[in-house]
Amino acid sequence: MDLKGRNFLTLKDYTPEEIMYLLKLSAKYKAEKKAGVQEPVRTGKNIALIFEKTSTRTRCSFEVAAHDLGMQCTYLDPSGSQIGKKESIRDTARVLGRMYDGIEYRGFGQEIVEELAKYAGVPVWNGLTNEYHPTQMLADMLTIQEHLGELKGKKLTYMGDARYNMGNSLMIVCAKLGLHFTACTSKEYFPDAALVAQCEEYAKESGATITLTEDVDEGAKDADVIYTDVWVSMGEPDEVWAERIRALLPYQVNKKVMAYAKDSAIFMHCLPAFHDLDTKIGKEIHDKFGLDAMEVTDEVFESAQSVVFDEAENRMHTIKAVIAATMGLEHEKH
Ligand code: CP
Ligand code: NVA
Repeated sequence: MDLKGRNFLTLKDYTPEEIMYLLKLSAKYKAEKKAGVQEPVRTGKNIALIFEKTSTRTRCSFEVAAHDLGMQCTYLDPSGSQIGKKESIRDTARVLGRMYDGIEYRGFGQEIVEELAKYAGVPVWNGLTNEYHPTQMLADMLTIQEHLGELKGKKLTYMGDARYNMGNSLMIVCAKLGLHFTACTSKEYFPDAALVAQCEEYAKESGATITLTEDVDEGAKDADVIYTDVWVSMGEPDEVWAERIRALLPYQVNKKVMAYAKDSAIFMHCLPAFHDLDTKIGKEIHDKFGLDAMEVTDEVFESAQSVVFDEAENRMHTIKAVIAATMGLEHEKH
């Protein structure tokens, strides 16, 4: 499998075989790192990390993965560069493409990362846009494999805002790899009809199914994976909180929801999560709306079914695989 020179912008661009290859490579890197037998490399390559939105996992994953692969990286924070204010994305791409061997971008519209990729001349990796979060998908699929074995045929139920980056990306990866995807939410938060239709096409090949339902019992019934994400995403205005809470509180992941799922079901969340009052926003929402938790209760988050920190760790191993494969490091070895 040769992915050298490829961008990683959305999993719509990757075949099921390519996605499975990246998962296999991630598992290999993880095993090697755990065993302390990672090959010491000095690639002499450099990568740039552009973050127009904040991050803990994605930034740290790219930095650790780059160091493990013998690369240097430069972090450009949401205010520390000329991007957008004084310099267009097209010009930024042509500048960074001269200095770096790969570029990660986290920000707003998908069209921005597409533009960056068009002009950079080096692989560009999407570290989250409003529409997609493809590196998160590899970590999630690796985590499901580790806990439940085979991916094909598993039922993954996503509860909450299913028309944003996480809902969209989970529907795509499930449809490509043959998992049964259910969006269980209020109908105004169902994924876009055109994307559902596109995923239905992928599903024909893989044996996946796609279900959209407002019924919690039906949505969570016999699920292997219950997944949720924040109700208000980065970049959205504070004014939307009241409406989100009204629409999405019935879809909070709590013990009752987990009881509808299989006994062996796992709980997943890309993180960060509002499951207690130990965050500034969590406290503000508690004071304003009286909620102790939002998308997931603390009880479920802290339960034995919760695999959220395995997922977080897997961000690093999977991002390492994406960097290595698209920069041709794996291919050069063989
Ligand atoms: N899941 C995720 O992307 O986390 P960060 O926002 O911390 O990168
Ligand atoms: N939907 C969330 C995902 C964070 C990883 C956001 O965009 O803020």
